[in-house]
Amino acid sequence: MSDRYAVIGNPVAHSKSPWIHAEFARATGEDIEYGRIEAPLDGFVATVERWRAEGGKGLNVTLPFKHEAFRLCERLSERARLAQAVNTMVLDQGFGDNTDGVGLVRDLSQNLQIELAGKSVLLLGAGGAAQGVIGALLEAQVARLVIANRTVSKAKPLAERFAGVSTCGYDALADELFDLVINATSAGLADESPPLPKEVLGKGIVAYDMVYGRETPFLAAARRTGARACDGLGMLVEQAAESFFIWRGVRPQTHPVLAKLRGF
Ligand code: ATR
Repeated sequence: MSDRYAVIGNPVAHSKSPWIHAEFARATGEDIEYGRIEAPLDGFVATVERWRAEGGKGLNVTLPFKHEAFRLCERLSERARLAQAVNTMVLDQGFGDNTDGVGLVRDLSQNLQIELAGKSVLLLGAGGAAQGVIGALLEAQVARLVIANRTVSKAKPLAERFAGVSTCGYDALADELFDLVINATSAGLADESPPLPKEVLGKGIVAYDMVYGRETPFLAAARRTGARACDGLGMLVEQAAESFFIWRGVRPQTHPVLAKLRGF
């Protein structure tokens, strides 16, 4: 019988992870099955336990369960511990990891050829999506990392967990210059944009939205100013590849899968 994996979340019906992992399995010859599990909002732990008892090997965890997964795992990677969020579980080891940060950094550096070392980076949002990538951005040696959030009081305790990260509200950004602006808010999912002063985006700046599969108002605004606009599809594929590597010890190629998803 094939080893069984799945993505667990709520909602999860539109997740591209089953398709991506099926492509990885085909390309690497790994014998796996990968499905999707919609857990009730108040039933994450029970659903994981059931899946584990049925012989499930591993899970990718998505919204809104990444923090609950972090609390459930008996052993954690350093990056998951720092993020306080788990997106990859190895069930027979009670192990949790977080591949979101490395996924973002690989997409930026390898797929989009954007040098991060020495750059000034603005991260928008202070929820689960932002938390998962701060450690990896610092590890990539960015010169400066500022977190801006609508609710500044939520960003402060997050920044305090990492040395050298500062926080502010959106209005304080009008006189600031950044090389890279990463939208880790969920605003785009509601067809909204974070209230960014217009001076922040412009020619020579990279605007990255972790949301994929739609032109968010943030990316549309970035494009209008002449900034380079990038969606989060590459991050999705790269974080999946890192999870696949954790489970199978084999690193799949990401370029062909990303190209297929983009319809090339
Ligand atoms: P996720 O895990 O996707 O990050 P979350 O934990 O609910 O989800 O966090 C959502 C983030 O998007 C928060 O930073 C939120 O800002 P607040 O903390 O001020 O609520 C941000 N967000 C959502 N909609 C937004 C909007 N329209 N404008 C600006 N920020 C928004």
